[in-house]
Formats: sequence, C-alpha cells, structure tokens
Amino acid sequence: MNLLVIGGGGREHAIIKKLKENPSVDVIYALPGNGGIAADAICVSDIGAKDIDKIVEFAKNNKIDFAVVAPDDPLALGCVDRLHEVGIPCFGPDAKAARIEASKVFSKNLMKKYNIPTASYEVFDDSQKALDYLKDAKFPIVIKADGLALGKGVLIPQNFAEAEDAVKTIMEDKAFGESGNEIVIEEFMTGPEVSVLAFTDGTAIIPMVSSMDHKRIGDNDTGLNTGGMGTIAPNPYYTKQLADECMQTIFLPTLAAMRAEGCPFKGCLYFGLMMTPNGPRVIEYNCRFGDPETQVVLPLLKTDLLTIMQAVENETLAQLDVEWHDGAAACIIIASGGYPGSYQKGKVMTFEDNLADNVVIYHAGSKLQDGNLVTNGGRVLGVTARADSLAQALKDAYKATNSVQFEGKYMRSDIGKKALAVLED
Ligand SMILES: Nc1ncnc2c1ncn2[C@@H]1O[C@H](COP(=O)(O)OP(=O)(O)OP(=O)(O)O)[C@@H](O)[C@H]1O
Ligand SMILES: [Mg+2]
Repeated sequence: MNLLVIGGGGREHAIIKKLKENPSVDVIYALPGNGGIAADAICVSDIGAKDIDKIVEFAKNNKIDFAVVAPDDPLALGCVDRLHEVGIPCFGPDAKAARIEASKVFSKNLMKKYNIPTASYEVFDDSQKALDYLKDAKFPIVIKADGLALGKGVLIPQNFAEAEDAVKTIMEDKAFGESGNEIVIEEFMTGPEVSVLAFTDGTAIIPMVSSMDHKRIGDNDTGLNTGGMGTIAPNPYYTKQLADECMQTIFLPTLAAMRAEGCPFKGCLYFGLMMTPNGPRVIEYNCRFGDPETQVVLPLLKTDLLTIMQAVENETLAQLDVEWHDGAAACIIIASGGYPGSYQKGKVMTFEDNLADNVVIYHAGSKLQDGNLVTNGGRVLGVTARADSLAQALKDAYKATNSVQFEGKYMRSDIGKKALAVLED
C-alpha cells in the first residue's frame, strides 16, 4: 500500500513510525515531512501541509491508497473533503467536523446545547461589549480567540487592566488575525489537566491511554507557554472511575451532539479535560492527535495503527479490539535555546548510535543540509522511552537525551515530576 501523511512534526514522525509496522505498507510519503522523518518516509518538502491543491494532485499522481491528515490547519481547510472527492480514503475529520477545534464559539455552543460539562462562557464580536462585560467580572478569567492561533490564543488576565490588554491584543491588534474576530470569555476553572485522545468513527469511540503535557518553558511550570515541552502517559490523575464518568458525561454525548448537528466526527478526537472539584469538564477539543501527546500515546499502542485508521474510515471501529502495552511512556522535548522567543536555526546535530531498544527519537524541527541533520525549529526533537513504570521511562528518556548534542540545546529537567508525586501518594 502507498500511504500519505500530511504534516512534518514530531507527531507525524510518531504516526509514520507506527504505520510502518504494518507489513502491507510499501511506501509512506510525508508532505512536507522533515529531516528526521526522511529516514522513515519519502519527504516531499516543497508541498506544505496547507497546500491543499498540491496535496490532492500529489495523492492522485502517486496512487495513494490511504491518507492521514494530521495537523489542524489542513483539516479545517477541508483537506479530507478534497481527498474524498477524488476517491482517496483518509483518516481525519472533514471541515465541518473540524470546527470542533477550529471554532471555539462552535464548540462552546455545542457543549451548552447538549449539556456537556464545560466552563460557563459568553461570546463577543465587539470589543466594547466585551470590556463592559469584563468590568463586573470575577478574576482570573479566561479569554480565547475563536479560531486557530497556534496554541497562543488563550489569555488568562488576573485583573481588569490585563483583560483590557487581552481584548485589545486579540480583537483590535488582531494578533491572531481573523481568528480574533470573535472571542469567548469563560469562567476560570481549577484542577489537574488530563489529555485524552480517542479514535472514533462517529459512533463508536475507543479512548487511547491518557496523557499529561507540560506547556511552560521552565521547570516547575514557570515562564512562557510553548507547544509542549514533554509528556507522560498514562496520566495518574485519570482514574478508572473518572474515565468511566468522562465516557458517559463527555465522550459519548460529544459524538451524539456532532451527529445531531449533521457533522459526525471521524478521526482522532482530542479531549482537553480538567478534573475540577465539581467533576470532569471539557477545556477544549482538538480535531487531531496532540503534539507531543502522540509521542507517548502511540508507543503504548499494541494494535496495528493502520488497521484502526481504516476501521475509522470504514465506520467499523466497534468490531475492533484495541490493545495497549502495560507500563508507561515519557517524552522529553529538546528545544532550541531561546524558544519560545527568538532562536537560531541551522545548528548541526550529532547523534550517538547507542539508543536502548525502548527509546525512540522523534524529529519535530530538523532538516537535512549537506548530509547533516540541522535544527530547523523551536522544538527540535522528542525523546521517548517506554518502560514498566513511569519512573523508569523518565530515567531512560532523560538518559537518552545525552546522546544528542547541538549548540543551544535546551530541555526541562522536571518532566513527569508532578505525575510521579501523584503515584507515590
Ligand atoms: N476555563 C479555563 N479555566 C482554567 N484554565 C483554562 C481554561 N481554559 C483554558 N485554560 C488553560 O489554557 C490552556 C489552553 O487552553 P485551550 O486548550 O482552550 O487552548 P488552545 O490554544 O486550543 O490549546 P492547544 O494548543 O492545546 O490546542 C489550557 O490547557 C489550560 O491550561
Ligand atoms: Mg486547541
């Protein structure tokens, strides 16, 4: 079979490595892929993940049997709809279903209409009205740009002055472009966060192993937000009892709501959850695998990924048994010095060839240049280890980070620390 994977980050590298385990896979093309993915797939670096016309043309010309559209942008732009139009089976939601991530106004209204627990909220398309509302609001409060904003469209002002700045940044300065035409202002919730990715064909749902991200750049959750500096799975806050509750109050109602709205969701649905004192609540949905959550979740998957993805596309997921490895996985992100602020690219990386069997290095921002792998992004690599326990996975992953060197290499030193403390309690 000829497969096509759209995207070029650590998430796509993890998906590709897993797809390759299927013996019927002949070739995988990655559009655009990256320097590290090039060891596992044929990268077509001049076709970007948002070049929908070129992607469809490429898929037609290269006899693609199955495509995986991994990032949010092409999903929101209707890449799956377009590939379906030319008869290519895909994994991922169509544009209508992708609104569950691409529009926070859509997802909040969906949750309200179908009684899915989430923070209470108001929507504004006028900055003056938003400010009038904020004058009497309780702080901290949460302000979100409606549309996609590279994970940066959420601001949590502590007082009115900060809220004024936030509204101005999003709605008037248009820091996130059209994404800020509307905003959601919502209640600030408290409690541990849990990410749950789930395979769904619109009706059946199979949640994957839960995970925990570490968003801030600095140790002990300090400093600026990033795309994610490390992940662990499973998330110890997510007990069996909470999982059962989420299935009944959140997962199944969300799928039913999407069907009722005429946009059944097929693909990987990402539930960003908060375990509040009043029970689990939805923070957000994403319409795709998370990055870097995928880099710890897929290594724990025992069942063949392509088989699952095909069952999602064929709407036969209910007939499938999906199995997971016991134990845990940890992923440490290695970033460029300076990230998430400005940083330099093009630093030559050296790799020692002595990785343990339970370790894998996923490339997020790398490229090949004159035969060398060089850095090409803020987040450069994800070093994942799978082991019998979280403590061992963390130890092995951190040890393996020593096998990579480049100028300015940065990583957090406390990934998984909070989770270990929960487990030791
Ligand atoms: N109502 C809330 N109460 C408390 N914290 C919140 C709330 N909403 C969002 N947050 C915090 O802000 C973060 C980002 O919010 P959200 O997940 O909605 O944004 P996003 O930009 O879609 O993120 P991602 O890049 O992960 O898709 C959350 O992980 C959470 O820490
Ligand atoms: Mg999101």
